[in-house]
Amino acid sequence: MATPKTPTIAPAEGKLGVLTVGLGAVSSTLIAGVELAKRNMAEPIGSLTQMGTIRLGKRTDERTPLIKDAVPLTAINDIVFGAWDPFPDDAYTAAVRAGVLESGRHLEPVAEALRQVRPMAAAFDPQYVKRIDGPNVKDHTSKRKMLEGIREDIGRFRDENKTERMVMIWAGSTEIFLENGPAHQDIDSFEAAIDANDPTVAPSMLYAYAALQEGIPFANGAPNLAVDTPVLRDYATANKVPISGKDFKTGQTLLKTVLAPMFKARMLGVAGWYSTNILGNRDGEVLDDPDNFKTKEESKLGVLEGILQPETYPSLYGDMYHKVRINYYPPRGDNKEGWDNIDIFGWLNYPMQMKIDFLCRDSILAAPLALDLVLFSDLAKRAGMGGIQEWLSFYYKSPQVAPGLYPEHDLFIQLTKLKNTLRWMIGEDQITHLGLEYYLDE
Ligand SMILES: NC(=O)c1ccc[n+]([C@@H]2O[C@H](COP(=O)([O-])OP(=O)(O)OC[C@H]3O[C@@H](n4cnc5c(N)ncnc54)[C@H](O)[C@@H]3O)[C@@H](O)[C@H]2O)c1
Repeated sequence: MATPKTPTIAPAEGKLGVLTVGLGAVSSTLIAGVELAKRNMAEPIGSLTQMGTIRLGKRTDERTPLIKDAVPLTAINDIVFGAWDPFPDDAYTAAVRAGVLESGRHLEPVAEALRQVRPMAAAFDPQYVKRIDGPNVKDHTSKRKMLEGIREDIGRFRDENKTERMVMIWAGSTEIFLENGPAHQDIDSFEAAIDANDPTVAPSMLYAYAALQEGIPFANGAPNLAVDTPVLRDYATANKVPISGKDFKTGQTLLKTVLAPMFKARMLGVAGWYSTNILGNRDGEVLDDPDNFKTKEESKLGVLEGILQPETYPSLYGDMYHKVRINYYPPRGDNKEGWDNIDIFGWLNYPMQMKIDFLCRDSILAAPLALDLVLFSDLAKRAGMGGIQEWLSFYYKSPQVAPGLYPEHDLFIQLTKLKNTLRWMIGEDQITHLGLEYYLDE
């Protein structure tokens, strides 16, 4: 099939409402960072939309603008935040509680703006997130009422803030493990399941459905299904609403999707990959529950197999042992420590080891991804691109892809895909890296 023609992109006029589901560590860090950046009090480090460049044309053309100058992104000054959370804390209190940012340097200067973000009552059911129980919730005995309540919240937020467009992002806790089942196949079954309070319809799916019904793009930063169901995928495609997920790719998995392609590129074998984390934030506490951890584990485990293709290279990766652990360890708070021990082998099977100790900050790594996702999702919507946005795989551990496609996990292939999509959107040539033209005479 020929490349579809360059879309017309509606201008980014007016305010963009960013609705976060969950006002915890990631959301409060995102909001504080954006409010600081709006006031030129901090640089949005880690954000490709704000700091990244894109090469256009040939290497000799010397055209490498900032991405935000090349494509019509919403300016961060036009963002207004809203949120839902079962805890009633506003974004200032949530940020203090999360303990990610220094109060004097990064919270006090924007305290007023943060205090204005007060969470709406959450569509929350403790059955899906067992370690959390807050008072700021909707009645969860009727899924239909929860869905309607979310839509009413969206309408009210739109009116009160006079937003032109909106994006919803799931930065809520990881829900228990669920698989796609009969309720998720088509709209009739899904609607009936909502009316029947079917337990396979999780709150995240209600948020996602409400967003899509309102024409609002939905991005999923956690590994639970949310919008990753046949019914919501088809609905998003039919109604031209961008969707993407799942699970922000921030720490250990980010490293895996850089290192594993290197081993494979050099045809080095991998005998085992042991990954363990200690983490003390609320996310770590939720993931300490086996049902919630299973959702995360599935998301983290898929990456290596996807990249290394043991069925194609059985002698290199066929016997690889892959283990992932997350241990809740309160003293560390949001400062995660991730260890990787990788047993590799080379020429004539000689073994080698690589050990990585990544002392990272979870929400510091996740916040810029959340910002990029909302800005790119909004761009996609204005470009008329509905359904799965595979070009946003760059941001996810378990990229959502069309049925029958395997996800691309290699970080740099993902980046190439993202940038080529941006080039396509603005009518620029694709960059193939063939480069023969530099060596031909004419
Ligand atoms: N590096 C990272 O931080 C990273 C990476 C990948 C994925 N994630 C995922 O992002 C999500 C957010 O992480 P966090 O560190 O901010 O966690 P957090 O626990 O600090 O915040 C999550 C918030 O979501 C709220 N919540 C739970 N269910 C909700 C519902 N139904 N509606 C509204 N709010 C709800 C909780 O009360 C909590 O305040 C988690 O699912 C986490 O697994 C984070």
